[in-house]
Amino acid sequence: MSQGGASELQDRIRRAERVAVLTGAGVSAESGVPTFRGTDGLWRQYRAEDLATPEAFRRDPRLVWEWYDWRRQLVATCQPNPAHRAIAALERDAPEFLLITQNVDGLHRKAGSVRLVELHGNLWRVRCVRDERTTENLEAPLQDIPPRCTCGGLLRPDVVWFGEALPAEPLRQAFDAAQSCEVFLVVGTSAVVHPAASLPGVAREHDAYVVEVNLEPTPLTSIAHESHHGKAGEILPRLLSTSPSPQPPTPNPRRSPCSP
Ligand code: OAD
Repeated sequence: MSQGGASELQDRIRRAERVAVLTGAGVSAESGVPTFRGTDGLWRQYRAEDLATPEAFRRDPRLVWEWYDWRRQLVATCQPNPAHRAIAALERDAPEFLLITQNVDGLHRKAGSVRLVELHGNLWRVRCVRDERTTENLEAPLQDIPPRCTCGGLLRPDVVWFGEALPAEPLRQAFDAAQSCEVFLVVGTSAVVHPAASLPGVAREHDAYVVEVNLEPTPLTSIAHESHHGKAGEILPRLLSTSPSPQPPTPNPRRSPCSP
């Protein structure tokens, strides 16, 4: 396992037919979106049981919506960072590609990613609890809290809450990609929330080259072929740069090699 030194990744990517990437909150940290478990993480300040469970929503939809509206307003001011853009550029060069994100902030799409699945949903989509209709782009900030569907039912954020199953089709695509890819890149996740956290192990069992980028070691570090520790926005553009290795400087034609 390489620890942040020389990387075989670019060479592996050049030769790969199938590349998959898994991201977590860390990829958006440099855009100003709070993570969940870091020092200022959301779950250090708020109780998930009060804000991110179906029971919490049944008990107090207004409180849950106030929290989500706050997060939506915060994310609305954030822009993709170099890590999002490096992943979007990687997709453009890869024959088969899937970005699997646990993030609900929509920043990957904003950076240009297209072939992606959002395993934990999307902050900008809402779902009616009565007729299950899904609507995108409900405006932020909300006019009425909690918002209602035209059928009169309550709207809820279309995100996965604790105790809920992940959406079946995105999950199937994620496991298919993990089983069939030759390169699996993991960025900015603490890798403690399953089933997403199982994907790198599945990829490794199916002979993928697994590379992790994170500020610090995680449970995945021991199974990754390479682990790079530092900020994703600084490491990824360098690690994924598709330009060939630096050329020797071109001699200035107007100066002879011997001129002072
Ligand atoms: P976490 O907050 O658990 O972990 C964020 C990870 O990103 C940590 O391992 C940090 O070390 C790392 N990190 C922070 N800043 C970084 C940076 N600039 N560059 C690289 N790495 C950085 O977030 P997730 O792993 O995404 O689920 O959490 C998984 C799920 O738990 C979330 O999707 C959410 C949460 O409960 C739901 O809400 C369903």
